[in-house]
Amino acid sequence: MKGVDEKRRTDIMRAVELLRAGNIVAFPTETVYGLGADALNEQAIRAVYRVKGRPRSHPVIVHLAQADDIRAWARTIPDSFWLLAEAFLPGPLTVVLPKANHVPNSITGGQDTVALRVPAHPIAQSILREFGGGVIAPSANRYGSISPTTAEAVQKEFGDEVFVVDGGQSHVGLESTIIDLTGEVPRVLRPGMISEQAIQAVLRTATLAQNHESTAPAVPGDKRSHYAPGKPVSIVADAAGTRESAVLALRTQPAEFQGVHWDVLPIDAAGYAQALYAALRRADETGADAIYIEQPPIGPDWTAIHDRITRAAAPREEDI
Ligand code: TXA
Ligand code: MG
Repeated sequence: MKGVDEKRRTDIMRAVELLRAGNIVAFPTETVYGLGADALNEQAIRAVYRVKGRPRSHPVIVHLAQADDIRAWARTIPDSFWLLAEAFLPGPLTVVLPKANHVPNSITGGQDTVALRVPAHPIAQSILREFGGGVIAPSANRYGSISPTTAEAVQKEFGDEVFVVDGGQSHVGLESTIIDLTGEVPRVLRPGMISEQAIQAVLRTATLAQNHESTAPAVPGDKRSHYAPGKPVSIVADAAGTRESAVLALRTQPAEFQGVHWDVLPIDAAGYAQALYAALRRADETGADAIYIEQPPIGPDWTAIHDRITRAAAPREEDI
């Protein structure tokens, strides 16, 4: 457990005991906090879905300590997996592969595939190594709301219902890139901070264009308003006329907007991604009527950011 202090060591051991006893536990990963449970314990699996309020048809990701461990969870493993593993794992990349026979249907939404991820965060690594098995870990938020990037955000979601291991702020800040390796051509199902371009460079192959329509049942992020705060969100060229609103800005606060909740985000993609969800949560907690997001730059590094803010700004289910 190198790099982890005493208090965290105690919390990690408690988390592992809870997992072994079939309980749920929230822990940090480098992307967002996860709500963990033993991937082979039906009662623990049920508890995760119940606490999140997530439909049982929506599959979850199995988290493993090392890339080699996927041999026990996938029925077949293409060469492309090992190339990606060498380049990116442990790290913020999830792969979808044909599931091994023993993988419970209750975590795959009844599908014949399973999503597998090897997180890099030292606390996630310690928990997974100590536990020694697969841990399902959907983002530690109630269904439909913003993924948490701090322990405090998890506590706000679940109160005392869930034990949280505090690992500070998640440094990537957006959920992992999901790539489906079950077809002829790899396909990105959810963009993340490992970009499609970076994946193509490693695989030396094109990837299939994302097709949100056809992946809708498999990827609940495709429910358009999935990553949404409670207040209405708009993306704007520049935040003018926003006195009653909260702003996620790129510019420093103009004098005429004194008194407006004005949060300046970093202008580099990595910094912006890391800060985004916490800024959305802060904006949502203000008394403002609406949230305005100043349009970030366009480019490969910004694709996942645009994906998440577009979803945050998408019409709510009840509005469609
Ligand atoms: O960064 C992350 O991936 C975080 C951290 C905690 O690891 N976890 C996360 O889990 O975002 P969750 O459950 O919030 O999102 C999992 C996504 C969903 O969109 C789900 O549909 C997709 O993975 N998924 C899971 N199994 C799948 C499968 N067999 N085929 C296609 N998509 C799958
Ligand atoms: Mg989620």
